[in-house]
Amino acid sequence: EKGGYEHFMLKEIHEQPDTIFDCLRGRLLPQSGQIIMSGVDNHIDALKNAQRMLIVACGTSWHAGLLAEYQIEELCRIPVEVEYASEFRYRNPVVNKGDVIIAISQSGETADTLVALESAKAKGAFIFGVVNVVGSSIARLSNAGAYTHAGPEIGVASTKAFTGQLAVLTMMALKIGYAKGAITEARYLQLMRELYEVPEKVKEILKDTSNIQRIAAKYKDATDFLFLGRGYNFPIALEGALKLKEISYIHAEGYPAAEMKHGPIALVDEKLPVVFVATKDSYYEKIVSNVQEIKARKGKVIAVATANDEIIPGMSNDIMFVPDADEVIAPLLSTIPLQLLSYYVGVAKGLDVDKPRNLAKSVTVE
Ligand code: F6R
Repeated sequence: EKGGYEHFMLKEIHEQPDTIFDCLRGRLLPQSGQIIMSGVDNHIDALKNAQRMLIVACGTSWHAGLLAEYQIEELCRIPVEVEYASEFRYRNPVVNKGDVIIAISQSGETADTLVALESAKAKGAFIFGVVNVVGSSIARLSNAGAYTHAGPEIGVASTKAFTGQLAVLTMMALKIGYAKGAITEARYLQLMRELYEVPEKVKEILKDTSNIQRIAAKYKDATDFLFLGRGYNFPIALEGALKLKEISYIHAEGYPAAEMKHGPIALVDEKLPVVFVATKDSYYEKIVSNVQEIKARKGKVIAVATANDEIIPGMSNDIMFVPDADEVIAPLLSTIPLQLLSYYVGVAKGLDVDKPRNLAKSVTVE
């Protein structure tokens, strides 16, 4: 049932070219310039005219939501707030009629998310569910939605469900942004084509993982890690840190790279591995100087960089390449080496990567 893989987590990481393709299949049609998502089509006015969108989720799904905030604000020009479901539920938030709530959940059963949605629905919010498990509680509670079609995820740490969420949310941002006239047709078509190429590019990353295995073995005894990114890669840095914590029990923190100088840089010494998610994008020059700051303090730099990058490799102790992609799409690629890194660190430490201690696949208690 593990399809020849040693663990479900590794199998699910390697399934991603297929699961992302399944998610896009029949929806993303770059040749005709259409994105067909019935949950969006049927409610396009409510979505494109929303005064505000609130994204409610937990854990990895919350990280998908944070990326969606960046994408929706850029492509749709709609203000977005991303909320931890558990905080949203208990802090008496302002929810106005006509606000759109996007609920993101792999299992569709996370109690914090479910109760947050119930109270928002009672206040008149429109709930759009981005869910993996068909017919789950959150799917049933939603007014509309789009499934991620990643198939059953057995590994406790979310991998293929996360990239499915990113694919759905990217299509939504594109579709709503174009319907609203917030992006040009040329940009819309270009990003559609880029998204369509993601499954092939993920396959490319997965073709040879020996370099990532080597890096994992080299750093497996570190006691702490930092994960840094800017812009679209910031949520990916957070997700990289969460994955490492879960699978390897190594303390890891994700930060926006520029926040380093406001405190965390005090942690940096010659023992600290610092993972930069530093693909070529509009933040590139800025992140190059952040890498410099870490090097100057003798931190060990591990970078995720674009295949043709000529600067970052020379500044890094270790490097993981991903194919070139537009910055809106690149997170779907840059997250893959980080999944593999945490997997191989966990394996190198002899841990049960499919069932990390203290964790359950769906958290049905508040
Ligand atoms: C991390 C992980 C958790 C879940 C979180 C929300 O690998 O799996 O952080 O993302 O518990 O679960 P769902 O998406 O099922 O609501």
